[in-house]
Amino acid sequence: MAPLTRLTVLAALLGCAMSTMPISDITRCQYTGMDGHMYDLSPLRNGNYMFSADAYEIDSYNIYSPKGSAADPLTYKYYLNVCANVSHAPSACKKTAPILRVNPDGTCTALGNINAAIFDASPGADGVYLSYYHGDPSGGSRVFHYQSSVFFVCDNSTDITGPTFEHQSSCYHSHFRVLTKHACK
Ligand SMILES: *[C@@H]1O[C@H](CO)[C@@H](O)[C@H](O)[C@H]1NC(C)=O
Ligand SMILES: *[C@@H]1O[C@H](CO)[C@@H](O)[C@H](O)[C@H]1NC(C)=O
Repeated sequence: MAPLTRLTVLAALLGCAMSTMPISDITRCQYTGMDGHMYDLSPLRNGNYMFSADAYEIDSYNIYSPKGSAADPLTYKYYLNVCANVSHAPSACKKTAPILRVNPDGTCTALGNINAAIFDASPGADGVYLSYYHGDPSGGSRVFHYQSSVFFVCDNSTDITGPTFEHQSSCYHSHFRVLTKHACK
């Protein structure tokens, strides 16, 4: 191989490697995907979103939105921030976190840690999701911690609609959904 060709191949490989390396930047609240498109979620940061959600608690492990159960719903209150801790934690919570949940019994659960946050591309559609890991230990476990993901779904007609709670399942992982134009390409 001629030196020039080798260089061209190397450049192509490097270029390829660079374009397939997604970047999650929580400080800037931005995610750059494999195609080079950058999602800027910073307009939603520090919104301190607060909402209640009725849900059926199947067991402490799984919490579902009200459907498919004969039991009375329980009301959970959520405090959610994007790329930041909740500014003013409710009195039930000893310390803040990016997502706090005040449970029906008045106790507080941190559903993640801002220092264990990462953006990723939504599977199968435009948009991104933000995961917060390493929240409070779950059920006294030293191994499992509460965690959460906020899915930002493209909707050009709104700055933000939601967040809404979807469910908590496998490994105490809560899912939330936000409609926003900032998730559009
Ligand atoms: C978020 O809150 C936690 C718990 O109070 C605190 O230790 C941490 O320093 C905060 N981080 C940021 C970036 O605000
Ligand atoms: C959303 O709006 C932007 C800017 O107007 C446009 O470029 C984009 O195609 C729209 N996306 C969708 C999914 O409608």
